[in-house]
Amino acid sequence: MEQKSFFRFLLLFVTAAFVFVFTTTNFSHEPPSTAALFDCSDASSSSPICASRNFLFKKQQHRPNTKNGPTTNPTRRRDHVSDVPRHPLDPLTVGEINRVKSLLSTHALFSSRAPHALHSVVLEEPDKNLVKKWEKGDPLPPRKASVIARVGVDYHVLIVDLSSGRVEEVEGPGRGSGFPTMTLEEMNDATWAPFSSADFNRTIVSRGVDLSDVACLPLSSGWFGKSEENRRVMKVQCYSSQGTANFYMRPIEGLTVLLDLDTMEVIEISDTGRVIPVPGSTNTDYRYARASNPEETRLLNPISIEQPRGPSFVIEDGHLVRWANWEFHLKPDPRAGVVISRARVRDPETRELREVMYKGFVSELFVPYMDPTDAWYFKTYMDAGEYGFGLQAMPLVPLNDCPRNAEYMDGVFTAADGTPYVRENMVCVFESYAGDIAWRHSESPITGLPIREVRPKVTLVVRMAASVANYDYIIDWEFQTDGLIRAKVGLSGILMVKGTAYENKNQVKEQEELHGTLLSENVIGVIHDHFVTFHLDLDVDGSNNSFVKVNLKKEETSPGESPRKSYLKAVRNVAKTEKDGQIKLKLYDPSEFHVINAGKTTRVGNPTGYKVVPSGTAASLLDHDDPPQKRGGFTNNQIWVTPYNKSEQWAGGLFTYQSKGEDTLAVWSDRDRDIENKDIVVWYTLGFHHIPCQEDFPIMPTVSSSFDLKPVNFFERNPILRVAPNFEQDLPVCRSDAIPG
Ligand SMILES: *[C@@H]1O[C@H](CO)[C@@H](O)[C@H](O)[C@H]1NC(C)=O
Ligand SMILES: *[C@@H]1O[C@H](CO)[C@@H](O)[C@H](O)[C@H]1NC(C)=O
Ligand SMILES: *[C@@H]1O[C@H](CO)[C@@H](O)[C@H](O)[C@H]1NC(C)=O
Ligand SMILES: *[C@@H]1O[C@H](CO)[C@@H](O)[C@H](O)[C@H]1NC(C)=O
Repeated sequence: MEQKSFFRFLLLFVTAAFVFVFTTTNFSHEPPSTAALFDCSDASSSSPICASRNFLFKKQQHRPNTKNGPTTNPTRRRDHVSDVPRHPLDPLTVGEINRVKSLLSTHALFSSRAPHALHSVVLEEPDKNLVKKWEKGDPLPPRKASVIARVGVDYHVLIVDLSSGRVEEVEGPGRGSGFPTMTLEEMNDATWAPFSSADFNRTIVSRGVDLSDVACLPLSSGWFGKSEENRRVMKVQCYSSQGTANFYMRPIEGLTVLLDLDTMEVIEISDTGRVIPVPGSTNTDYRYARASNPEETRLLNPISIEQPRGPSFVIEDGHLVRWANWEFHLKPDPRAGVVISRARVRDPETRELREVMYKGFVSELFVPYMDPTDAWYFKTYMDAGEYGFGLQAMPLVPLNDCPRNAEYMDGVFTAADGTPYVRENMVCVFESYAGDIAWRHSESPITGLPIREVRPKVTLVVRMAASVANYDYIIDWEFQTDGLIRAKVGLSGILMVKGTAYENKNQVKEQEELHGTLLSENVIGVIHDHFVTFHLDLDVDGSNNSFVKVNLKKEETSPGESPRKSYLKAVRNVAKTEKDGQIKLKLYDPSEFHVINAGKTTRVGNPTGYKVVPSGTAASLLDHDDPPQKRGGFTNNQIWVTPYNKSEQWAGGLFTYQSKGEDTLAVWSDRDRDIENKDIVVWYTLGFHHIPCQEDFPIMPTVSSSFDLKPVNFFERNPILRVAPNFEQDLPVCRSDAIPG
């Protein structure tokens, strides 16, 4: 079938989610691409950017994402070749990445014949005080790149000064456990590697699967102290893509290939599931082009949002977003996805921009599956540190991922060989009007006041969507004019499923543990959790902040004092040290969590503050001594508060892959440092328990959760008291005859 040849190769990766890519490349086994580092010989002549070995990039170049209509700004430069940094926090440009590459290519570290690869090349952010002092028009602080490089089996953390050309090694081999984020190139190579094994081929064929239909996923191995010791390994599991694009629903169950990730050698093949049939392809395809019933596809009339006077926001100099009373810096990041920096809100009284959050981003994800058997126990993914949450963020689809009024931002990332590449439309920014109400009041006739005052709620949304293999994570940062910031996570995409011999629940013995739900014939959706841990460097009116637990306590009245027996009072406890800031939420012992600036008070004397308003409160129930939970120790509490430390950004540690959990937020926080009247960082984990159900087959309707950062005594009064309502004359009605056809 045509589908087959089109589909010859798939690159994927995993966790709860994966990316897949079709290339027209041969099915032959290739050696690791590391020897090609710094080799620009296959540079495309039309572009000064060297052709990347990154297949994702190649794919986009060949098939620009225009199918769904042009984006709002078709004149936006796509190659980014002439980009220059304009803000201290702007990501590295194409030119700067090329300079890093050229500086490293002559560096002694890379002179050996040992294979080398760059696992991360990002801006080394200038110190906070320099960034805060900087104003538009000032010269930029020195531009530096932070690089994580592999040479042979050693890893080096380097700082490259782009002006002086100096390369400084800040961390060499010999630090603790763990390896850097995989490169896309090795994820791709790993999916090919099993085919070098005749045993692998034999078992595939013996299961009745055509070798040309096999699609494999690179699965991080976690750390369990056995085969993972002292070398970088990966597990590969495979699926049949025969008859469907949704090969995830057709697992070749129980077949696990253990690879040496440095050499791509097959170490071991575990082949336990031969008696389990590969589930069928019926009803697994989710592509619109495959839908045949027009009754089913046309449930709604088309809908869109109109802004007759255009959007109310601008993206200045590429990354600085100004909207209504907000201003913040926005950048794509290969590991975190998007980073929001220097979020400031304008005070309606003083007209000053006031600091709220210095930096907010997804620091790590932890996705443990709840099946302890051989082919499943290790599935305990950390999507940011292992796979790169930003690397997995594919181009957004105009009109469907983001509304027509959205603007898009590209990511500029670095391939393993040091060449820059562009991830188009990775982030979108748009104003959202969901028909909600910002505030309102009506008077009843008994007061004689004919009042109906309402303000519609319009928000600004920053969105990205990462497809970590099968799973899709939608991350929204939503800004409201009343000062609230909402961080929202949506889960969609495709379940990681397990093959089974069962076709109906009536075949399952009563005590038998399925570790999930039978979703379709021969398909079990395995129970799992998702934890998304946010790094929230709040700087409320400056960095001198404290964390205050405002605990609601029941008080009992004395006999005869009141007809009431009890009431609630708010008891404020300022956290002195990190342990006071380790919070497990309790429904029957509730608190508010304020970040305040004790040195800045309102007119009536309250300290200015923002509060973290929890939601998505699933907690990890795994044993704290379970190896995955040690590595995911940052989920042991819902909230943590640490003193600001530039090197404590990644909750699972800088080197997450196969880490033993020695460098996690849990370890840092146990130092119990002072956090009162300090520059502090709040960490919040949004959690989801997922017991799959049939509606999740073959692709899941989005499940969302969010938490808020909400002003608390920050403003003197409702900051949107004076804003105007909607008026009929401002909103011309779009007529349906304007629609062509
Ligand atoms: C496939 O591999 C063969 C043999 O290595 C080579 O000659 C051919 O050009 C390759 N085709 C593609 C599309 O890469
Ligand atoms: C396994 O099958 C693939 C695809 O047919 C083939 O390219 C490869 O050479 C085979 N491996 C071995 C060791 O025979
Ligand atoms: C931080 O605020 C506290 C309380 O207002 C004050 O005592 C302290 O001096 C301030 N520290 C700095 C560095 O401004
Ligand atoms: C900053 O963080 C690093 C990594 O956790 C740690 O080694 C260092 O001691 C920390 N510095 C302070 C002052 O806590």
